[in-house]
Amino acid sequence: MVEFNLPANSKVHKGKSFPAKDAKNAKTFKIYRWTPDDGANPRTDSYEIDLDKCGPMVLDALIKIKNEVDTTLTFRRSCREGICGSCAMNIDGTNTLACLKPIADVKGDVNINPLPHMPVIKDLVPDLSQAYAQYRSVEPWLQSETPPPPDGERLQSKEERALLDGMWECILCFCCTTSCPSYWWNGDRYLGPATLMAAYRWIADSRDERTGERLDALEDPFKLYRCHTIMNCTQTCPKGLNPAKAIGEIKSKLAERQG
Ligand code: SF4
Ligand code: SF4
Ligand code: FES
Repeated sequence: MVEFNLPANSKVHKGKSFPAKDAKNAKTFKIYRWTPDDGANPRTDSYEIDLDKCGPMVLDALIKIKNEVDTTLTFRRSCREGICGSCAMNIDGTNTLACLKPIADVKGDVNINPLPHMPVIKDLVPDLSQAYAQYRSVEPWLQSETPPPPDGERLQSKEERALLDGMWECILCFCCTTSCPSYWWNGDRYLGPATLMAAYRWIADSRDERTGERLDALEDPFKLYRCHTIMNCTQTCPKGLNPAKAIGEIKSKLAERQG
């Protein structure tokens, strides 16, 4: 398990406590709180929840807290089933999806922080503008001069299609990118694992005709080569994907071109 000390952006003060009255099966959730509206330092608020009256996942507890205890708590979520990537956050020292993280997997109190080393908009909501801009910069869509067949789709063999497995499943949660020390220190210029895997997804696609241009655009000491194969990204991915492998494939393709 990859663990991170959080948050790195500021001193976090002890905050308010919300005990659960008459709870027979209480668990404490310690949650990072910060709002741009009051000029106060970040703090950690403690919420006691009766697990006998809560769903099994950390997201269930967050929703219960927001609905029943403290409506000011702010976090993103949508699908509730590991598909949208919205609920990415740092739970118990690891970046993951709150909707896929069982409360029972956390021993003791549940510490919840925003994804590390990103600006915080409010509470558990990170500002992902830079990461999305970098994703856009690799032009993650099919590009081909050859028009599609008039009577059908652009076909691939089973083998060609299989090359995309392990990449198309990415939900752009950025758990990997925000776990990467190289991205923490050089995130303004290093593209990070999520975006580099998205770039390779199109380099590996037999239907795409801009492979050379895509590789040219990545041949850069910062955009690509800041990856030092530390592997945090792959260890933390909540979908079990391997962005470090995709980065290695890009480096191999570039080496093949040179050699
Ligand atoms: S393998 Fe590369 S991208 Fe992944 S955590 Fe390490 S440096 Fe970052
Ligand atoms: S590779 Fe995994 S951790 Fe990274 S953005 Fe995609 S789904 Fe999230
Ligand atoms: S709510 Fe969609 S991935 Fe968790």
